[in-house]
Amino acid sequence: MIYYDEDKKTFTLKTKDTCYVMGILYSKYLFHYHYGTLTDAICYALPPEVSFSTSPPELDYTGFSLETLMAEYAYYGTGDFRATSLRLRCRNDESTMFCYKEHRIYFADYKQSEIPCAYGKHIPTLDIVLSDEVFGCTLTLRYKVFRDSNVITRSAILRNENATDTVTVENCMSMCLDLYGSDYDVLSLYGSYGNEMNLKRNPLFFGNQRLISRRGATGHIYNPFFAVCDHAADYDSGNVYGLNLIYGGSFLSEIEVSAHSPVGKPYDTVRLQTGVCPENFGYVLCPRETFVAPEAVMTFSSCGINGMTENMHRFVNTAILPHARQKMPIVLNTWEACFYDINEEKLLSFARMCPSLGIDTLAVDDGWFARRNDDASGLGDWKIDRKKFPSGLRVFAEKVSQYVDFGIWIEPEMISKDSDLYRRHPEWVLGKTSRPLSIGRHQYVLDLTRDEVLDYLKDTCCEMLRDVPVRYIKWDMNRHLTEVGSFAHDDDAGGGIAHRYIMGVCKLLHWFRVTFPDVCLETCSGGGGRYNLALAAYSDMIWASDNTYPAERLLTETGALTGYPASMMSCHVSCPSDSEASEREMENRFAVAAMGTLGYELDLHRLPETALATIGSQTQRYKLFRDTVAKGTYRVVRSPHSDGVGAISFIQGDDFVLICAGLRRCASTSTELPFADENAVYTEMLSGETVNGKELKSGAYAGKLLAGGCATVKYFVKESKRTC
Ligand code: DGJ
Repeated sequence: MIYYDEDKKTFTLKTKDTCYVMGILYSKYLFHYHYGTLTDAICYALPPEVSFSTSPPELDYTGFSLETLMAEYAYYGTGDFRATSLRLRCRNDESTMFCYKEHRIYFADYKQSEIPCAYGKHIPTLDIVLSDEVFGCTLTLRYKVFRDSNVITRSAILRNENATDTVTVENCMSMCLDLYGSDYDVLSLYGSYGNEMNLKRNPLFFGNQRLISRRGATGHIYNPFFAVCDHAADYDSGNVYGLNLIYGGSFLSEIEVSAHSPVGKPYDTVRLQTGVCPENFGYVLCPRETFVAPEAVMTFSSCGINGMTENMHRFVNTAILPHARQKMPIVLNTWEACFYDINEEKLLSFARMCPSLGIDTLAVDDGWFARRNDDASGLGDWKIDRKKFPSGLRVFAEKVSQYVDFGIWIEPEMISKDSDLYRRHPEWVLGKTSRPLSIGRHQYVLDLTRDEVLDYLKDTCCEMLRDVPVRYIKWDMNRHLTEVGSFAHDDDAGGGIAHRYIMGVCKLLHWFRVTFPDVCLETCSGGGGRYNLALAAYSDMIWASDNTYPAERLLTETGALTGYPASMMSCHVSCPSDSEASEREMENRFAVAAMGTLGYELDLHRLPETALATIGSQTQRYKLFRDTVAKGTYRVVRSPHSDGVGAISFIQGDDFVLICAGLRRCASTSTELPFADENAVYTEMLSGETVNGKELKSGAYAGKLLAGGCATVKYFVKESKRTC
């Protein structure tokens, strides 16, 4: 719900449990009052006067200063010296000030499009239009309210209304949120290739903290999701703000803590911002052109980290992923099993074995196309290797489809230096520069800012998949952008090439979904290098990491689950060495992979009979509880990031899945399950065992599992329910 109070000049946005309030001061400045619990006790007083601050020209001697204002959005060069939301350059001037002009409250339908966004029907929306008369630009701050998930999304839409002058956008953040105080911790996801999305909690410090990517992709190092919480907040109590960005390219999430010291009443503020990375941005807006900053996502919960996560999961499931399949396939992927050593005969025999193992899709990973026996060549040409697959792609896929669904890997955004496409079109490579281009995995990035490149990729996809019964595609991306520039653009014209590139990727992904609506799409970027909401808006699932060692992958998965739901996380059981295919090791890997969409990457020919039987039993068990994992409420009971051991649950009504991973040592294993009903008797559906609710609640049951030095999955159904 959104309303405007004409007397107070305030806007109030309400979700189920949260409230966001801002107002207009002196008829022109947007001021932030409150974001948090539903309350009527909002303090509308201005912050106390601070000396040594500047005031807007018409408010000299009033003590009113943009430096101490809780801003809704912050402009460069006009008195707010904290982190800037908007910095423009026009006629050699860089100072801007956007003032309130008008607003509109309405309901709108949002659909999936070439610009990734949160979608839904009849979404309450508020547009506040501001203008900078000197630059001749308008800025629309857009707020969308997602009531049930307690999420408000924000974006900024900048329009150059000038008839003749261009405006260069140096920085245009998607949102800015100022909070009083500084006693907060920040939770962020950090890592590297093969070690993605570890959850880190640190106290905020005075100054700026930046989570940033300059890679043209969100990358493995930081993730755009982050949260800010009270020092005392834990998984089940305390105030927590969660933020994310629906964007797949270089981003900046920034947190700045500042002190303000009016005599006798010192106070601190925290500014949270997220948006496109402003470094080397320089996006040129021609007369009458518009720049739309990607949509940012904000949520608040007073019920701890689990409460914030629950909001985020509900939002992503209902507003980002509604297109995703209800039942994801259980895939056998060829990569870890065979790498480039694949051929028709071998893969057909895998396909024949799959149904009895409960696997429903064979996904042929890298190595199927011509001149692809290693990673040095072939990307861009996309013709099947007839030596490995003499029947050709269509006939081979038809043969596979007699047993299971057929899936295939592509990396459309890339071009090998050693490819016919590169020899034909060296100018299609992204990176116009006077110096030689850096090379990654022997490949360059295609210039997806160019329409002719997008058209080539669309034609190639159609040609490649024509009449092929394909049901699943894995879309990979294995290097980042360097020496960013485009042969298609004059030196400065356009600017923002990395941004235009990722918008090109989104265009292609959107086209792909519309053209192949029945294909299940898994996206990936060298593991979890593009685990973000923009890619999720086009994917059924995203590959979280190439690392499948359970103790390490547990950290990646539970890190990712803090901000993203299980339904979008693709997780496989693999055994890099045959000797690890012991039943215990297979079960450890299964329990960890069961936190998302299960799949396998194993050479079925090399596995002992016992391991094959284990796979059959795992898929059978997984099918019993996968709905609860995908749709249930995720709740961390013990976090492997802080405790060493993990106790994770997915709760649906009276039933719950419990995954206990005691893969590392910890001081005490006793783990209470507060949501278990101590007066009930449960059936553990995967073994048939009867368990007393008291034992679950008291901590004894999970404690035993965690003491065992392994990872285990259990699925509890309340007795009374099972019998009716
Ligand atoms: C990186 C991915 O993360 C792997 O799963 C695999 O698809 C390889 N690329 C193939 O080159």
